[in-house]
Amino acid sequence: MSEHDHAAANAAESTSEKLVELAKRRGYFFQSAGAYGGVGGFYTFGPQGAALKGNVEDAWRDRFAVAEGNMEIDAPTIMPEPVFEASGHLDGFDDMLVECPDCGESHRADHVVEDNTDYEDAESLPIPEVEEVIAEYELVCPACGAGLAGQAVDSFNLMFATNIGPGDSDPGYMRPETAQGIFVEFPRLKEYARNQLPFGVTQIGRAYRNEISPRRSIIRTREFTQAELEYFIDPEEDEPDLESVEDVEVTLYPASEQHSDDGEEIRTTIGAAVDDGTIASPWVAYFLGVAKPWYEAVGVDMDRFRFRQHLPGERAHYAADCWDAESEIDGNWIEMAGFAYRSDYDLSKHAEHSGDRFTIFKQYDEPKTVERATVDPDMSYLGPEFGGDAQAVVGELEALAERDRSAFDGDTVEIELEGERHEIPVEKTGFAVEEQTEAGEHIIPHVIEPSFGVDRLVYTVLHHAYREDEVAGEERTFLELDPEVAPTFVGVFPLQNDDELEDAARDIAADLREAGLSVTYDDSGNIGRRYRRQDEVGTPFCVTVDYESIEQDEGGVTVRERDSTNQKRLAIDELPETLSAIRAGDLAFDDLEE
Ligand code: GLY
Repeated sequence: MSEHDHAAANAAESTSEKLVELAKRRGYFFQSAGAYGGVGGFYTFGPQGAALKGNVEDAWRDRFAVAEGNMEIDAPTIMPEPVFEASGHLDGFDDMLVECPDCGESHRADHVVEDNTDYEDAESLPIPEVEEVIAEYELVCPACGAGLAGQAVDSFNLMFATNIGPGDSDPGYMRPETAQGIFVEFPRLKEYARNQLPFGVTQIGRAYRNEISPRRSIIRTREFTQAELEYFIDPEEDEPDLESVEDVEVTLYPASEQHSDDGEEIRTTIGAAVDDGTIASPWVAYFLGVAKPWYEAVGVDMDRFRFRQHLPGERAHYAADCWDAESEIDGNWIEMAGFAYRSDYDLSKHAEHSGDRFTIFKQYDEPKTVERATVDPDMSYLGPEFGGDAQAVVGELEALAERDRSAFDGDTVEIELEGERHEIPVEKTGFAVEEQTEAGEHIIPHVIEPSFGVDRLVYTVLHHAYREDEVAGEERTFLELDPEVAPTFVGVFPLQNDDELEDAARDIAADLREAGLSVTYDDSGNIGRRYRRQDEVGTPFCVTVDYESIEQDEGGVTVRERDSTNQKRLAIDELPETLSAIRAGDLAFDDLEE
């Protein structure tokens, strides 16, 4: 290849390709278990990546747990089968799988369709229709090119199954969302919230999905980190503090626009979007309004950011409405978070399956007098008539009286027990309608769920920070990371390999660490190379110690800013305070006096 060809090939390389290579080289992330050939969908965050991810998680915790006054918990990642029977994941958490008849590779059928046709939401199509589309468009295996027409498309459950303890009598699953760890503990969590709605519970932790075809590095993996908030409300009483976010400007892509041929994104404010009904739930709108400035603060480019409403067929089984936060990556939009209105779906299901109380007692302002239909069955009749089923009959009568008191209008009342219908004389049921004074009622709270994918956010932050420029005639790559999330805040270098310079530089590094800054010390290679290394890591500042620093009183050190590469001479003893103030956003490098 000529030099010109190399340049052309480089130009064609996408930012993602360059970023993935940089991420591996500089310790952001890389495929796990490389010594054994690697495993699809599992990534290790290296030293820089783990620090960046930790900083993003801390920033999320500050905003969505601490600043909102919510409680944080930390639940197990393996949960027993009944949890997922109740949540619907055992039956409904499936993707569409198609297997290549030639090479045996498995693919997500909806992705094969979306990648090769005009269908944008193949996930919402019924399986037979996906099979038809594959045949009609003569779609082929993305791995080997063999035709997929005629291949069966199957449902594949995404949960990783395991056994709890020896044997297989107690199946368990790796949680597919951290949310269930919050929902199942609701009976206890409501006590910690002193039985008062609204309240929120957050969790940051790992979740697992056995993706059919994990892809695009850390964007779609099989083990990933979620930061989720489950916010419990009384849907009839509680209202969000919309005023605090009503002026937040947002780009929205509502379902109606996605349906329309000339549909487009709408630029509006949170307040206007609630007023004109674009966002139906004020609670969802509130959290979109909180999230947008937060995303901006951690470094997502707001020109490449939007909220997109789910199409009806795309929504998860528990969601009544859902908006995704999306970022643009090399021309594609990727989901970074979902803001779902989960209604009372989860708590109702866990109440039904566990028998525990997933309700909150809602006290009325004034006690209310209400009419209650009750039964007091004559057991001397039901006993001989129904034997061991007599108590079950009582239960059916109680439920029927509560549900439909007109069923007791005639001489007999009909109930169903294990599929069989029975007639019972009403006079034997002790049916009565009584006035009762009630202080309140037990309600099942509704849930609003802002659910953030941390790995995808880390990817976006890196991608949106990726820059190439030229410094002193040389090409440079750097990450313009926000100082709040940058994994390393400052690099400290001795100008040359010299014991005195090295000792002084190590002392400065120690002082900066003591001030709570994340510091790297580097004395290998020439100074230009060390700057490039830190530029690629995204370190906002570098401090270089030279002979003037040690030989002259108040000789100072050179502080170099990453983005501009400007340098200033600053006093050594003021460095911790100055750099801490810059890190906290209280001071700008440009305003510093030498
Ligand atoms: N808890 C929402 C999700 O995992 O997608």
